[in-house]
Amino acid sequence: MPSAFNTISAEEAVAALGHGDTVAFSGFTPAGGAKAVPRALAARARAEHAAGREFRVRVLTGASSGASIDEDLAAAGAIAWRAPYMSGSSLRKAINAQEVEYLDMHLSHVPQNIAFGFLGAIDLAVVEASEVTPDGRVYLTTSVGASPTYLQHARRVVVEINRRHSPRLREMHDIFVMPPPHRRSPIQIHDPLTRIGVPYAVVDPRKVVGLVEVDETDTVAEFAAPDRVGNRIAHHVAAFLAAEKKAGRIPEAFLPLQAGVGNVANSVLGALGEHPDIPPFAMYTEVFQDAMVDLMRRGKLTGASACSLTVTTAKLAEIVADMDFFAPRIVLRSQEISNNPGIIRRLGVIAMNTAVEVDIYGNVNSSHVFGSDIVNGIGGSGDFTRNGYLTIFMTPSIAKQGKISCVVPMCPHVDSNEHSVQVIVTEQGLADLRGLGPMQRARAIIAHCAHPDYRGYLEDYIRTARKGHIPHDLTRCFELHRRLLETGSMHA
Ligand code: COA
Repeated sequence: MPSAFNTISAEEAVAALGHGDTVAFSGFTPAGGAKAVPRALAARARAEHAAGREFRVRVLTGASSGASIDEDLAAAGAIAWRAPYMSGSSLRKAINAQEVEYLDMHLSHVPQNIAFGFLGAIDLAVVEASEVTPDGRVYLTTSVGASPTYLQHARRVVVEINRRHSPRLREMHDIFVMPPPHRRSPIQIHDPLTRIGVPYAVVDPRKVVGLVEVDETDTVAEFAAPDRVGNRIAHHVAAFLAAEKKAGRIPEAFLPLQAGVGNVANSVLGALGEHPDIPPFAMYTEVFQDAMVDLMRRGKLTGASACSLTVTTAKLAEIVADMDFFAPRIVLRSQEISNNPGIIRRLGVIAMNTAVEVDIYGNVNSSHVFGSDIVNGIGGSGDFTRNGYLTIFMTPSIAKQGKISCVVPMCPHVDSNEHSVQVIVTEQGLADLRGLGPMQRARAIIAHCAHPDYRGYLEDYIRTARKGHIPHDLTRCFELHRRLLETGSMHA
Protein backbone atom coordinates (compact mmCIF):
# COMPACT_ATOMS: atom_id res chain seq x y z
CA MET A 1 0.00 0.00 0.00
CA PRO A 2 1.53 3.39 -0.93
CA SER A 3 2.30 5.50 2.12
CA ALA A 4 0.49 8.75 2.77
CA PHE A 5 3.73 10.14 4.16
CA ASN A 6 7.00 11.26 2.57
CA THR A 7 10.06 9.14 3.03
CA ILE A 8 12.88 11.36 4.23
CA SER A 9 16.49 10.78 5.22
CA ALA A 10 17.58 10.71 8.84
CA GLU A 11 19.56 13.89 8.10
CA GLU A 12 16.43 15.65 6.84
CA ALA A 13 14.59 14.49 9.95
CA VAL A 14 16.93 16.47 12.20
CA ALA A 15 17.53 19.46 9.93
CA ALA A 16 14.88 21.65 11.54
CA LEU A 17 16.00 21.02 15.12
CA GLY A 18 17.49 23.96 16.95
CA HIS A 19 19.78 24.34 19.95
CA GLY A 20 17.78 23.77 23.15
CA ASP A 21 14.95 21.85 21.48
CA THR A 22 13.43 18.78 23.15
CA VAL A 23 13.44 15.45 21.30
CA ALA A 24 11.52 12.42 22.58
CA PHE A 25 12.68 9.07 21.24
CA SER A 26 10.84 5.76 21.36
CA GLY A 27 12.45 2.88 23.17
CA PHE A 28 12.48 1.31 26.55
CA THR A 29 15.93 -0.20 27.08
CA PRO A 30 17.42 -0.76 23.59
CA ALA A 31 14.12 -2.38 22.59
CA GLY A 32 12.15 -0.43 20.00
CA GLY A 33 14.45 2.56 20.19
CA ALA A 34 14.91 5.06 17.41
CA LYS A 35 18.17 4.26 15.64
CA ALA A 36 19.02 6.21 12.48
CA VAL A 37 17.70 9.61 13.54
CA PRO A 38 19.68 9.87 16.80
CA ARG A 39 22.83 8.95 14.85
CA ALA A 40 22.07 11.69 12.33
CA LEU A 41 21.48 14.06 15.23
CA ALA A 42 24.92 13.18 16.63
CA ALA A 43 26.47 13.95 13.22
CA ARG A 44 24.56 17.23 13.03
CA ALA A 45 25.80 18.19 16.51
CA ARG A 46 29.40 17.42 15.54
CA ALA A 47 29.05 19.56 12.40
CA GLU A 48 27.52 22.44 14.36
CA HIS A 49 30.26 22.24 17.00
CA ALA A 50 32.95 22.14 14.28
CA ALA A 51 31.44 25.33 12.87
CA GLY A 52 31.69 26.91 16.32
CA ARG A 53 27.96 26.91 17.03
CA GLU A 54 26.31 25.77 20.23
CA PHE A 55 24.00 22.80 19.62
CA ARG A 56 22.64 20.60 22.37
CA VAL A 57 19.17 19.17 22.78
CA ARG A 58 17.02 17.88 25.63
CA VAL A 59 16.43 14.13 25.29
CA LEU A 60 13.55 11.98 26.49
CA THR A 61 13.05 8.24 26.02
CA GLY A 62 10.89 5.63 27.75
CA ALA A 63 13.76 4.37 29.92
CA SER A 64 17.36 3.60 28.98
CA SER A 65 18.10 3.42 25.27
CA GLY A 66 20.26 1.83 22.63
CA ALA A 67 23.82 2.91 21.89
CA SER A 68 22.71 5.50 19.33
CA ILE A 69 21.35 7.74 22.10
CA ASP A 70 23.19 7.27 25.38
CA GLU A 71 26.51 6.51 23.66
CA ASP A 72 26.63 8.18 20.20
CA LEU A 73 24.56 11.23 21.01
CA ALA A 74 26.23 11.68 24.37
CA ALA A 75 29.74 11.24 22.93
CA ALA A 76 28.92 13.94 20.36
CA GLY A 77 28.20 16.35 23.22
CA ALA A 78 24.69 16.73 21.85
CA ILE A 79 22.71 16.21 25.08
CA ALA A 80 22.03 19.09 27.45
CA TRP A 81 19.34 17.44 29.54
CA ARG A 82 18.17 13.84 29.83
CA ALA A 83 15.20 12.05 31.41
CA PRO A 84 13.86 9.70 32.72
CA TYR A 85 16.54 6.90 32.89
CA MET A 86 19.79 6.01 31.19
CA SER A 87 22.50 3.35 31.29
CA GLY A 88 25.19 4.44 28.81
CA SER A 89 28.78 4.90 29.97
CA SER A 90 29.39 8.04 27.82
CA LEU A 91 26.28 9.69 29.15
CA ARG A 92 27.02 8.56 32.73
CA LYS A 93 30.42 10.26 32.55
CA ALA A 94 28.91 13.46 31.18
CA ILE A 95 26.21 13.51 33.87
CA ASN A 96 28.70 12.94 36.67
CA ALA A 97 30.92 15.70 35.23
CA GLN A 98 27.85 17.98 35.39
CA GLU A 99 27.94 18.51 31.64
CA VAL A 100 24.45 17.03 31.28
CA GLU A 101 21.50 17.68 33.58
CA TYR A 102 19.79 14.37 34.39
CA LEU A 103 16.29 13.97 35.75
CA ASP A 104 16.13 10.50 37.32
CA MET A 105 12.42 9.65 37.56
CA HIS A 106 9.93 6.95 38.50
CA LEU A 107 9.11 5.58 35.06
CA SER A 108 5.37 5.36 35.67
CA HIS A 109 5.31 9.13 36.21
CA VAL A 110 6.69 10.07 32.80
CA PRO A 111 3.48 10.17 30.70
CA GLN A 112 1.61 12.31 33.23
CA ASN A 113 4.57 14.67 33.59
CA ILE A 114 4.61 15.09 29.81
CA ALA A 115 0.85 15.55 29.53
CA PHE A 116 0.86 18.36 32.07
CA GLY A 117 3.96 20.02 30.65
CA PHE A 118 6.19 19.52 33.71
CA LEU A 119 9.03 18.48 31.39
CA GLY A 120 8.41 21.21 28.81
CA ALA A 121 7.09 20.98 25.26
CA ILE A 122 8.35 18.28 22.90
CA ASP A 123 9.59 19.72 19.61
CA LEU A 124 10.10 16.40 17.86
CA ALA A 125 9.14 12.79 18.63
CA VAL A 126 11.04 10.07 16.79
CA VAL A 127 9.28 6.74 17.12
CA GLU A 128 10.17 3.33 15.70
CA ALA A 129 7.25 1.46 14.16
CA SER A 130 6.54 -1.34 11.72
CA GLU A 131 3.76 0.66 10.05
CA VAL A 132 1.86 3.92 10.23
CA THR A 133 -1.51 4.14 8.51
CA PRO A 134 -2.76 7.25 6.68
CA ASP A 135 -5.21 7.93 9.52
CA GLY A 136 -2.41 7.89 12.09
CA ARG A 137 -2.34 4.43 13.66
CA VAL A 138 1.23 3.72 14.65
CA TYR A 139 2.14 0.05 15.10
CA LEU A 140 5.09 -0.02 17.48
CA THR A 141 7.78 -2.69 17.56
CA THR A 142 9.60 -4.25 20.54
CA SER A 143 8.57 -1.70 23.15
CA VAL A 144 5.74 0.64 24.00
CA GLY A 145 7.40 2.78 26.69
CA ALA A 146 6.14 6.35 26.60
CA SER A 147 5.73 6.46 22.81
CA PRO A 148 1.92 6.82 22.81
CA THR A 149 2.28 9.93 24.97
CA TYR A 150 5.19 11.35 22.95
CA LEU A 151 3.21 10.87 19.72
CA GLN A 152 0.26 12.64 21.26
CA HIS A 153 2.13 15.63 22.67
CA ALA A 154 5.01 16.32 20.27
CA ARG A 155 4.71 19.24 17.89
CA ARG A 156 6.27 17.25 15.04
CA VAL A 157 6.77 13.52 14.55
CA VAL A 158 9.17 11.38 12.55
CA VAL A 159 8.48 7.66 12.33
CA GLU A 160 11.38 5.27 11.80
CA ILE A 161 9.89 2.37 9.86
CA ASN A 162 12.07 -0.57 10.84
CA ARG A 163 11.70 -3.31 8.22
CA ARG A 164 13.66 -5.74 10.39
CA HIS A 165 10.83 -6.12 12.89
CA SER A 166 7.91 -8.42 12.26
CA PRO A 167 4.58 -6.60 11.83
CA ARG A 168 3.14 -9.42 13.95
CA LEU A 169 4.70 -7.82 17.05
CA ARG A 170 1.54 -5.71 17.16
CA GLU A 171 -0.36 -8.77 18.34
CA MET A 172 1.28 -8.28 21.74
CA HIS A 173 0.51 -4.58 22.05
CA ASP A 174 -2.23 -3.31 24.32
CA ILE A 175 -2.15 0.46 24.26
CA PHE A 176 -4.29 2.53 26.56
CA VAL A 177 -3.59 6.18 27.25
CA MET A 178 -4.89 7.28 30.63
CA PRO A 179 -7.12 10.33 30.74
CA PRO A 180 -6.05 13.18 33.05
CA PRO A 181 -6.63 12.72 36.83
CA HIS A 182 -10.12 13.85 37.62
CA ARG A 183 -11.59 11.79 34.75
CA ARG A 184 -9.83 8.55 35.65
CA SER A 185 -11.84 5.45 36.41
CA PRO A 186 -10.39 2.19 37.74
CA ILE A 187 -8.08 0.49 35.26
CA GLN A 188 -9.73 -2.86 34.57
CA ILE A 189 -6.68 -5.10 34.75
CA HIS A 190 -7.36 -8.04 37.04
CA ASP A 191 -4.82 -10.45 35.61
CA PRO A 192 -1.40 -9.79 34.01
CA LEU A 193 -2.78 -10.73 30.59
CA THR A 194 -5.97 -8.61 30.66
CA ARG A 195 -6.17 -6.37 27.59
CA ILE A 196 -7.84 -3.00 27.88
CA GLY A 197 -6.64 -1.07 24.84
CA VAL A 198 -5.86 -1.28 21.13
CA PRO A 199 -2.79 -2.65 19.31
CA TYR A 200 -1.62 0.74 18.03
CA ALA A 201 -0.64 4.20 19.25
CA VAL A 202 -2.26 7.21 17.65
CA VAL A 203 -0.75 10.28 15.99
CA ASP A 204 -2.33 13.22 14.25
CA PRO A 205 -1.13 12.55 10.65
CA ARG A 206 -0.66 16.29 10.07
CA LYS A 207 2.21 16.27 12.57
CA VAL A 208 4.15 13.54 10.74
CA VAL A 209 6.96 15.26 8.85
CA GLY A 210 8.18 12.02 7.28
CA LEU A 211 9.12 8.38 7.53
CA VAL A 212 12.74 7.23 7.82
CA GLU A 213 13.45 3.74 6.51
CA VAL A 214 15.53 1.54 8.82
CA ASP A 215 16.53 -2.12 8.71
CA GLU A 216 18.31 -2.85 11.99
CA THR A 217 18.01 -5.10 15.01
CA ASP A 218 17.83 -3.86 18.60
CA THR A 219 21.23 -4.23 20.25
CA VAL A 220 20.43 -6.16 23.41
CA ALA A 221 23.51 -7.52 25.16
CA GLU A 222 23.84 -11.23 25.93
CA PHE A 223 23.63 -12.16 29.61
CA ALA A 224 26.80 -13.34 31.30
CA ALA A 225 26.67 -16.96 32.42
CA PRO A 226 25.32 -16.99 36.01
CA ASP A 227 28.21 -16.74 38.52
CA ARG A 228 28.47 -18.23 42.01
CA VAL A 229 27.24 -15.07 43.75
CA GLY A 230 24.27 -14.68 41.39
CA ASN A 231 23.39 -18.33 41.83
CA ARG A 232 23.52 -18.09 45.63
CA ILE A 233 21.26 -15.04 45.62
CA ALA A 234 18.87 -16.78 43.23
CA HIS A 235 18.82 -19.88 45.43
CA HIS A 236 17.94 -17.82 48.56
CA VAL A 237 15.12 -16.01 46.77
CA ALA A 238 13.63 -19.20 45.31
CA ALA A 239 13.81 -21.02 48.67
CA PHE A 240 12.20 -18.04 50.44
CA LEU A 241 9.30 -17.79 47.98
CA ALA A 242 8.72 -21.55 48.15
CA ALA A 243 8.61 -21.33 51.97
CA GLU A 244 6.21 -18.37 51.81
CA LYS A 245 3.86 -20.44 49.67
CA LYS A 246 4.13 -23.39 52.04
CA ALA A 247 3.28 -21.07 54.94
CA GLY A 248 0.19 -19.87 53.09
CA ARG A 249 1.46 -16.33 52.67
CA ILE A 250 1.55 -16.77 48.91
CA PRO A 251 -1.52 -18.48 47.41
CA GLU A 252 -1.29 -21.89 45.72
CA ALA A 253 -1.75 -20.20 42.33
CA PHE A 254 1.24 -17.99 43.26
CA LEU A 255 1.45 -14.23 42.64
CA PRO A 256 2.74 -12.34 39.61
CA LEU A 257 6.45 -11.55 39.68
CA GLN A 258 8.39 -8.48 38.67
CA ALA A 259 12.11 -8.87 38.05
CA GLY A 260 14.52 -6.01 37.52
CA VAL A 261 16.92 -6.05 34.63
CA GLY A 262 20.35 -7.68 34.63
CA ASN A 263 22.26 -10.84 35.36
CA VAL A 264 21.04 -11.35 38.95
CA ALA A 265 17.40 -11.04 37.91
CA ASN A 266 18.03 -13.46 35.07
CA SER A 267 19.58 -15.98 37.51
CA VAL A 268 16.63 -15.59 39.89
CA LEU A 269 14.15 -16.32 37.13
CA GLY A 270 16.18 -19.38 36.18
CA ALA A 271 16.18 -20.61 39.80
CA LEU A 272 12.43 -20.06 40.16
CA GLY A 273 11.95 -22.02 36.97
CA GLU A 274 13.90 -24.96 38.38
CA HIS A 275 12.44 -24.98 41.90
CA PRO A 276 10.10 -27.99 42.35
CA ASP A 277 7.90 -26.19 44.90
CA ILE A 278 7.30 -23.05 42.85
CA PRO A 279 4.24 -23.59 40.66
CA PRO A 280 3.85 -22.09 37.19
CA PHE A 281 3.62 -18.32 37.62
CA ALA A 282 2.78 -15.16 35.67
CA MET A 283 4.74 -11.91 35.54
CA TYR A 284 3.60 -8.31 35.77
CA THR A 285 6.89 -6.69 35.05
CA GLU A 286 8.64 -3.95 33.16
CA VAL A 287 11.06 -5.76 30.89
CA PHE A 288 10.56 -9.12 29.20
CA GLN A 289 14.04 -10.66 29.03
CA ASP A 290 15.76 -13.74 27.65
CA ALA A 291 15.22 -16.16 30.55
CA MET A 292 11.47 -15.71 30.22
CA VAL A 293 11.37 -17.22 26.72
CA ASP A 294 12.51 -20.64 27.93
CA LEU A 295 10.33 -20.46 31.04
CA MET A 296 7.34 -19.79 28.83
CA ARG A 297 8.14 -22.67 26.50
CA ARG A 298 8.41 -25.02 29.48
CA GLY A 299 5.05 -23.88 30.81
CA LYS A 300 6.60 -22.49 33.99
CA LEU A 301 5.80 -18.91 32.96
CA THR A 302 2.14 -18.80 32.03
CA GLY A 303 2.01 -15.22 30.78
CA ALA A 304 3.75 -11.87 31.06
CA SER A 305 2.80 -8.23 30.98
CA ALA A 306 5.73 -5.92 30.21
CA CYS A 307 6.64 -2.67 28.59
CA SER A 308 9.39 -3.96 26.32
CA LEU A 309 10.66 -7.11 24.71
CA THR A 310 14.29 -6.68 25.69
CA VAL A 311 15.63 -9.90 24.23
CA THR A 312 18.70 -10.75 22.20
CA THR A 313 18.37 -11.02 18.43
CA ALA A 314 18.37 -14.83 18.60
CA LYS A 315 15.58 -14.89 21.21
CA LEU A 316 13.52 -12.35 19.28
CA ALA A 317 13.82 -14.53 16.18
CA GLU A 318 12.61 -17.48 18.27
CA ILE A 319 9.59 -15.50 19.48
CA VAL A 320 8.71 -14.19 16.03
CA ALA A 321 9.06 -17.66 14.50
CA ASP A 322 6.41 -18.95 16.91
CA MET A 323 4.08 -16.00 17.24
CA ASP A 324 1.02 -18.23 17.52
CA PHE A 325 2.48 -19.52 20.79
CA PHE A 326 3.97 -16.29 22.22
CA ALA A 327 1.50 -13.56 21.17
CA PRO A 328 -1.36 -14.76 23.41
CA ARG A 329 1.07 -15.06 26.34
CA ILE A 330 2.79 -11.65 26.21
CA VAL A 331 1.19 -8.22 26.55
CA LEU A 332 3.23 -5.09 25.91
CA ARG A 333 1.87 -1.96 27.58
CA SER A 334 2.82 1.68 28.01
CA GLN A 335 4.95 2.39 31.08
CA GLU A 336 2.16 4.16 32.95
CA ILE A 337 0.26 0.85 32.88
CA SER A 338 3.09 -1.72 33.12
CA ASN A 339 4.38 0.16 36.19
CA ASN A 340 1.07 1.43 37.49
CA PRO A 341 1.04 1.53 41.32
CA GLY A 342 -2.66 0.68 41.62
CA ILE A 343 -2.41 -2.38 39.40
CA ILE A 344 0.78 -3.58 41.09
CA ARG A 345 -0.96 -3.36 44.48
CA ARG A 346 -4.15 -5.00 43.19
CA LEU A 347 -2.38 -7.94 41.58
CA GLY A 348 -0.12 -8.47 44.62
CA VAL A 349 3.09 -8.34 42.62
CA ILE A 350 6.27 -9.81 44.12
CA ALA A 351 8.90 -7.19 43.24
CA MET A 352 12.55 -8.22 42.93
CA ASN A 353 15.13 -5.54 42.20
CA THR A 354 18.85 -4.99 42.55
CA ALA A 355 20.60 -2.55 44.88
CA VAL A 356 24.02 -0.92 44.69
CA GLU A 357 24.09 -0.97 48.50
CA VAL A 358 21.72 -1.35 51.43
CA ASP A 359 21.99 -0.02 54.94
CA ILE A 360 21.55 -1.91 58.17
CA TYR A 361 18.05 -0.47 58.68
CA GLY A 362 16.72 -1.53 55.26
CA ASN A 363 17.16 1.61 53.19
CA VAL A 364 18.28 0.94 49.64
CA ASN A 365 20.49 2.81 47.22
CA SER A 366 20.20 1.49 43.69
CA SER A 367 21.39 4.51 41.80
CA HIS A 368 24.25 6.60 43.25
CA VAL A 369 27.80 5.65 44.28
CA PHE A 370 29.14 7.81 47.16
CA GLY A 371 25.69 9.39 47.16
CA SER A 372 26.78 11.48 44.21
CA ASP A 373 27.80 9.52 41.11
CA ILE A 374 24.89 8.13 39.14
CA VAL A 375 25.11 4.51 38.01
CA ASN A 376 21.90 4.26 35.95
CA GLY A 377 18.93 5.61 37.88
CA ILE A 378 15.93 4.41 39.89
CA GLY A 379 14.16 3.13 36.77
CA GLY A 380 10.99 1.24 37.55
CA SER A 381 12.27 -0.20 40.82
CA GLY A 382 10.47 2.43 42.92
CA ASP A 383 7.14 1.92 41.15
CA PHE A 384 7.21 -1.77 42.04
CA THR A 385 8.90 -1.58 45.45
CA ARG A 386 6.50 0.93 46.92
CA ASN A 387 3.46 -1.02 45.77
CA GLY A 388 4.34 -4.70 45.65
CA TYR A 389 2.88 -7.37 47.93
CA LEU A 390 6.39 -8.52 48.72
CA THR A 391 9.37 -6.34 47.93
CA ILE A 392 12.80 -7.89 47.65
CA PHE A 393 16.17 -6.24 47.04
CA MET A 394 19.20 -8.25 46.00
CA THR A 395 22.87 -7.31 45.99
CA PRO A 396 26.20 -9.08 46.34
CA SER A 397 27.45 -8.50 49.91
CA ILE A 398 30.72 -7.05 48.60
CA ALA A 399 31.98 -5.38 45.42
CA LYS A 400 35.43 -4.80 43.88
CA GLN A 401 37.01 -7.95 45.34
CA GLY A 402 35.86 -7.12 48.85
CA LYS A 403 37.13 -3.54 48.94
CA ILE A 404 33.51 -2.42 49.16
CA SER A 405 30.85 -3.64 51.57
CA CYS A 406 27.41 -3.38 49.99
CA VAL A 407 25.92 -3.39 53.51
CA VAL A 408 26.71 -0.08 55.21
CA PRO A 409 25.60 1.83 58.31
CA MET A 410 23.83 4.53 56.28
CA CYS A 411 23.27 4.81 52.55
CA PRO A 412 24.49 8.20 51.32
CA HIS A 413 21.64 8.12 48.80
CA VAL A 414 18.30 6.38 49.31
CA ASP A 415 15.85 5.63 46.53
CA SER A 416 13.74 2.90 48.17
CA ASN A 417 13.40 3.39 51.87
CA GLU A 418 12.93 1.23 54.97
CA HIS A 419 9.15 1.71 54.82
CA SER A 420 8.88 -0.04 51.45
CA VAL A 421 11.68 -2.61 51.53
CA GLN A 422 10.68 -5.96 53.06
CA VAL A 423 13.38 -8.45 52.19
CA ILE A 424 17.10 -8.08 51.55
CA VAL A 425 19.15 -10.84 49.97
CA THR A 426 22.86 -11.25 49.35
CA GLU A 427 24.82 -14.39 48.55
CA GLN A 428 25.34 -14.67 52.34
CA GLY A 429 21.66 -15.10 53.06
CA LEU A 430 18.27 -13.46 53.34
CA ALA A 431 16.89 -11.00 55.90
CA ASP A 432 13.11 -10.95 56.18
CA LEU A 433 12.40 -7.49 57.61
CA ARG A 434 8.62 -7.73 57.80
CA GLY A 435 7.34 -6.80 61.23
CA LEU A 436 10.78 -5.88 62.56
CA GLY A 437 11.71 -2.59 64.24
CA PRO A 438 14.98 -0.81 63.38
CA MET A 439 17.26 -2.68 65.84
CA GLN A 440 15.80 -6.05 64.84
CA ARG A 441 16.27 -5.15 61.19
CA ALA A 442 19.87 -4.15 61.80
CA ARG A 443 20.64 -7.43 63.58
CA ALA A 444 18.96 -9.48 60.84
CA ILE A 445 20.72 -7.67 58.00
CA ILE A 446 24.14 -7.82 59.65
CA ALA A 447 23.77 -11.51 60.58
CA HIS A 448 22.27 -12.75 57.31
CA CYS A 449 23.38 -10.35 54.55
CA ALA A 450 26.66 -8.63 55.47
CA HIS A 451 29.93 -10.20 54.39
CA PRO A 452 31.80 -11.79 57.36
CA ASP A 453 34.71 -9.35 56.78
CA TYR A 454 32.44 -6.41 57.62
CA ARG A 455 30.09 -7.91 60.22
CA GLY A 456 32.32 -6.94 63.15
CA TYR A 457 32.47 -3.31 62.00
CA LEU A 458 28.69 -3.11 61.59
CA GLU A 459 28.01 -4.75 64.96
CA ASP A 460 30.39 -2.29 66.59
CA TYR A 461 28.60 0.55 64.82
CA ILE A 462 25.19 -0.25 66.30
CA ARG A 463 26.73 -0.94 69.72
CA THR A 464 28.44 2.46 69.92
CA ALA A 465 25.90 4.57 67.99
CA ARG A 466 23.87 7.26 69.71
CA LYS A 467 20.75 5.59 71.17
CA GLY A 468 17.40 6.51 69.67
CA HIS A 469 14.68 4.87 67.62
CA ILE A 470 17.22 4.38 64.83
CA PRO A 471 20.72 4.40 66.38
CA HIS A 472 23.28 6.33 64.36
CA ASP A 473 26.65 7.91 64.90
CA LEU A 474 26.76 10.98 62.69
CA THR A 475 30.55 11.13 63.02
CA ARG A 476 30.90 7.60 61.66
CA CYS A 477 27.87 6.80 59.51
CA PHE A 478 29.85 7.39 56.29
CA GLU A 479 33.21 6.23 57.63
CA LEU A 480 33.31 3.25 55.23
CA HIS A 481 32.56 5.48 52.25
CA ARG A 482 35.15 8.04 53.36
CA ARG A 483 37.78 5.31 53.68
CA LEU A 484 36.90 4.07 50.22
CA LEU A 485 37.32 7.57 48.79
CA GLU A 486 40.58 8.15 50.63
CA THR A 487 42.26 4.73 50.35
CA GLY A 488 40.38 2.83 47.62
CA SER A 489 39.04 0.34 50.16
CA MET A 490 36.49 0.25 52.97
CA HIS A 491 38.85 -1.95 54.99
CA ALA A 492 40.63 -0.25 57.90
N1 COA B 1 29.71 0.94 45.85
C1 COA B 1 30.41 1.30 44.75
N2 COA B 1 30.38 0.62 43.59
C2 COA B 1 29.63 -0.50 43.56
C3 COA B 1 28.89 -0.94 44.65
C4 COA B 1 28.95 -0.17 45.83
N3 COA B 1 28.25 -0.53 46.90
N4 COA B 1 28.25 -2.07 44.31
C5 COA B 1 28.55 -2.33 43.05
N5 COA B 1 29.41 -1.39 42.59
C6 COA B 1 29.97 -1.29 41.25
C7 COA B 1 30.34 -2.64 40.67
O1 COA B 1 31.63 -3.05 41.08
C8 COA B 1 30.26 -2.35 39.20
O2 COA B 1 31.40 -1.62 38.81
P1 COA B 1 32.10 -1.84 37.37
O3 COA B 1 31.07 -1.38 36.38
O4 COA B 1 33.30 -0.96 37.45
O5 COA B 1 32.39 -3.30 37.30
C9 COA B 1 29.07 -1.39 39.10
O6 COA B 1 28.95 -0.79 40.39
C10 COA B 1 27.77 -2.09 38.74
O7 COA B 1 27.62 -3.18 39.62
P2 COA B 1 27.03 -4.57 39.12
O8 COA B 1 27.03 -5.51 40.31
O9 COA B 1 27.70 -5.05 37.88
O10 COA B 1 25.61 -4.09 38.76
P3 COA B 1 24.39 -4.77 38.04
O11 COA B 1 24.64 -4.87 36.59
O12 COA B 1 23.96 -5.99 38.76
O13 COA B 1 23.32 -3.62 38.30
C11 COA B 1 22.30 -1.87 39.53
C12 COA B 1 22.99 -3.24 39.59
C13 COA B 1 21.74 -1.56 40.90
C14 COA B 1 23.26 -0.80 39.08
C15 COA B 1 21.13 -1.99 38.47
O14 COA B 1 20.30 -3.08 38.80
C16 COA B 1 20.30 -0.74 38.42
O15 COA B 1 20.65 0.20 37.73
N6 COA B 1 19.16 -0.71 39.16
C17 COA B 1 18.29 0.44 39.24
C18 COA B 1 17.22 0.40 38.22
C19 COA B 1 16.35 -0.82 38.31
O16 COA B 1 16.25 -1.46 39.32
N7 COA B 1 15.73 -1.15 37.19
C20 COA B 1 14.85 -2.28 37.06
C21 COA B 1 13.52 -1.94 37.59
S1 COA B 1 12.25 -2.71 36.70
